[in-house]
Amino acid sequence: MSMLPTITISKPAAIKKGAALLVAPEGVDIAELAGELDGEGVVARAAELSEFTGKSKAVLDVLAPAGSPASRIVIVGAGKPEGASEADWIALGGAARGALAKETLVTLIAGEAMDAAAITCFAQGYLLRAYAFDKYKTVKNGQNGKPKAQKLVIQAAGTAAAKAAWRDAEAVARGVMLARDLVNEPANILGTEEFAARGEALEALGVETEVLDERKMKKLGMGALLGVAQGSARPPRMLIMKWNGGKAKDKPIAFIGKGVVFDTGGISIKPAGGMEDMKGDMGGAAAVVGLMHALAARKAAVNAVGIIGLVENMPDGNAQRPGDVVTSMSGQTIEVINTDAEGRLVLADALTYCNQTFEPTAMIDLATLTGAVMVALGQHHAGLFSNDDEVAAGLTRAGEQSGEKVWRLPLGPDYDKMIDSKFADMKNVGGRYAGSITAAQFLKRFVGETPWAHLDVAGTAMSSPSSDFNRSWGSGYGVRLLDRWVRDSFEG
Ligand code: BES
Ligand code: MN
Ligand code: ZN
Repeated sequence: MSMLPTITISKPAAIKKGAALLVAPEGVDIAELAGELDGEGVVARAAELSEFTGKSKAVLDVLAPAGSPASRIVIVGAGKPEGASEADWIALGGAARGALAKETLVTLIAGEAMDAAAITCFAQGYLLRAYAFDKYKTVKNGQNGKPKAQKLVIQAAGTAAAKAAWRDAEAVARGVMLARDLVNEPANILGTEEFAARGEALEALGVETEVLDERKMKKLGMGALLGVAQGSARPPRMLIMKWNGGKAKDKPIAFIGKGVVFDTGGISIKPAGGMEDMKGDMGGAAAVVGLMHALAARKAAVNAVGIIGLVENMPDGNAQRPGDVVTSMSGQTIEVINTDAEGRLVLADALTYCNQTFEPTAMIDLATLTGAVMVALGQHHAGLFSNDDEVAAGLTRAGEQSGEKVWRLPLGPDYDKMIDSKFADMKNVGGRYAGSITAAQFLKRFVGETPWAHLDVAGTAMSSPSSDFNRSWGSGYGVRLLDRWVRDSFEG
């Protein structure tokens, strides 16, 4: 795995060696900011010559002048820090790591512009930028010989507060990277059973887990999920993870993930071009595992359950056919028009199981559900669908803060009608128009009265455009969004 920097927080002290990292609000006096590090006004002169004024994410990189205790001085512009969001600080930390990747020791002097929250977001972005999924490269990118480990020491005045905040923020960053790992992992390595085992590993953090096998799922009547699985040599699984950090009497919040470890489309097979991307069709499930990791590692004061439907969608002699009718755990019947609309079939039974077993206060499902959501929103917002305005508003706010943005799309009876079937209670596709909405309408038929939201993450979980704090194909989208939502709506 990639070499991640180790990040520690300590009291302000004189820098003796390594690279010094400073954060400059726009218009700040650079000579004053650099202080002792700037022997003979070299840094201030470099800033002037390169017109560095502290604009957000601008980088000034100076080899330290003779007499400076540091070897290198890097100043990152912070723009106007008063209005900066969590996402802005994360991006800034990522940009800083981008400039400093080759150093072995970096000391960040966190000035007055950075409070504990800013420091921890910055560190989170720094760590996330360093993530690279290179375990299958026998020759690592841009390295001769052994990769170098890096230490980032953050000098902060309010050391205790910053340390406590960083413990939580690092837990969340680790959850994001766990989700990225799961999405990046190829499907020959990460099948249904292997995915379930990765979830069970959260027991080490105090998460209770359970895995349902095929026999149990048959007994529960999960005909929709099992129909998808029947064309694969890999057996289906349902992974259940419980974090009990809240009061014993409180009903949990529930997170449900689509875990299709590979989606060929089944008998309604997909075209060959780009099909390799379908190893990421468990991006929703990955986010749920990453979130459960984050909640447990930071000992969140909530009860939460994560439920994941794990299948592989393959065409073979035993695969389900277009036209097949299956009976879901809810008792409702489904005509399978297109075997490539498999995610909703998996989620139907996962949602029913979740609702009946846990009577959750709210259910949020995440799924790489439709190509149509990318047509509508591109890769910068997930599609949000909900039967509850408060849940929708909370998720929207959490999206703005975390930078993992969501955009609400409508539901309604006219769309619901589009999935009525001639032969069963419903069909699994609604026609050419409004593909993401009809998919959400389908899920809605399995949630009853429970407050619920569906996040279509097909555009945001994988094949991600690179950003200041993400260079990975699998983005880990959803972990920071939902952690923020849990903190604001339930731990408040
Ligand atoms: N996993 C896909 C959706 C997807 C597409 C995710 C591209 C990420 C990138 C899903 O199972 C699917 O195949 N959806 C179909 C639905 C259609 C058959 C109604 C789609 O979007 O084409
Ligand atoms: Mn599909
Ligand atoms: Zn799929």
